[in-house]
Amino acid sequence: MPEFRAPVGTRDVLPPESARWAALVGAFERRARLAGYGLVVSPMFEDVGVFERVGESTEIVRKEMYDFRDKGDRHVALRPEGTASVVRAFVQHHPVTPFKAWYVAPSFRYERPQAGRYRQHHQVGLEAIGSADPDLDVEVVALSWGFCQDLGLGSVELLLNSLGDAACRPRYLAELRRYLEARRSVLSEQSRATLEANPLRVLDSKRPDDRPVIDAAPRMLDSLCDECTEHFDRVRAGLDRIGVPYEIDARLVRGLDYYTRTTFELASGALEAAQNAVGGGGRYDGLVAELGGSPTPAIGFAMGIERLLLACDAEGALAAPEATAQVWVIDTTGGEEATVLTTELRAVGVSADRSFDGRSMKAQMKAADRSGAQLALIVGEEERAAGAVSVRSLRGQPVRGHADQERVPRVVVVEHVLRLLA
Ligand code: HAM
Repeated sequence: MPEFRAPVGTRDVLPPESARWAALVGAFERRARLAGYGLVVSPMFEDVGVFERVGESTEIVRKEMYDFRDKGDRHVALRPEGTASVVRAFVQHHPVTPFKAWYVAPSFRYERPQAGRYRQHHQVGLEAIGSADPDLDVEVVALSWGFCQDLGLGSVELLLNSLGDAACRPRYLAELRRYLEARRSVLSEQSRATLEANPLRVLDSKRPDDRPVIDAAPRMLDSLCDECTEHFDRVRAGLDRIGVPYEIDARLVRGLDYYTRTTFELASGALEAAQNAVGGGGRYDGLVAELGGSPTPAIGFAMGIERLLLACDAEGALAAPEATAQVWVIDTTGGEEATVLTTELRAVGVSADRSFDGRSMKAQMKAADRSGAQLALIVGEEERAAGAVSVRSLRGQPVRGHADQERVPRVVVVEHVLRLLA
């Protein structure tokens, strides 16, 4: 038999690690819900055209997309990110605006796998569609920051920039292209290729040979039109007012084409520089129209779950919540009583587990000890004959007086357990 393994660049998330995963998503949901964002579940694949709109000049779309023809000869792609899907759903269903949505979903990018970079990664994110108000930028940026605080990520830094809009960016791009073309010969080969497609993306190059040219390049922030300057000032003032710390990073360009005005990234100081972005986002005021809707401004962000957890590991944050059962039921009379007891306990909110396969008393006791449960309920022939259950403390605390085991009538055992656990 061949031995199958998870595909290159993908990971299995098993317990107990998955408990942290669930805790992280729960924390995100809470933040989102408190701010009025509702869950959106959209397909994992879309017509390839949906994603082509988000980054024709980006690696994510040009090189990394998982696209294929399905059995009906439709050209589809697995989602490389969540924003385009949410916007497509917005255009299709025209919900009331502002449309505030959050999501948790896998994303697929055919990247060279390494720590913190996978071919299937998972994002939690949110999108707010239908307002150009800078206060909405403040809300969204602050949500991303607050979420990192909820996780206990002290070394995450918020980087903020503005990429201008249709009025001021073309002028800046022309200036940047002229500047970079004049220095073409000293740029890396990759950056020379990037320059053809989108000069802005050259600013994203992490190659040391490109650094001096990039450092001296003209900055979008110096070329913003009056409207974009005012918008950016309002965003900054809003963040200052609610105490969200940020750094202006004039080289922050992001890896997708749809951004306008406010862009931001959350960088973890605890991760390696090449993969230190735990999240990012920004305004995309043109994307709704590009996907066939009427012009509608919007802003959002997404965070990579795997990277967030790596950052949590590095900082010792987000301890795994205890996933152990509170009560372990031991039944040496055939197992049916364990079925009934675990059902009754779970019905009143007590986590309860048991052994299967008619194991011996000794084996079941060992399983109970290993489980980390606080209490064992024991049903042997003797207990059954007496209409009773033995309650035993597994963590050394006596259950009554000095005894670590007592016998309780079967009919009251559930209430008794509730009292002991309270
Ligand atoms: P993004 O920056 O491409 O933005 O991805 C968001 C986050 O996903 C990154 O900051 C990173 O943590 C994580 N991520 C991306 N690629 C990988 C990978 N290959 N392996 C592991 N983690 C990865 C977006 O996707 C935009 N849709 C964000 C957005 C929402 N902008 C506006 N609204």
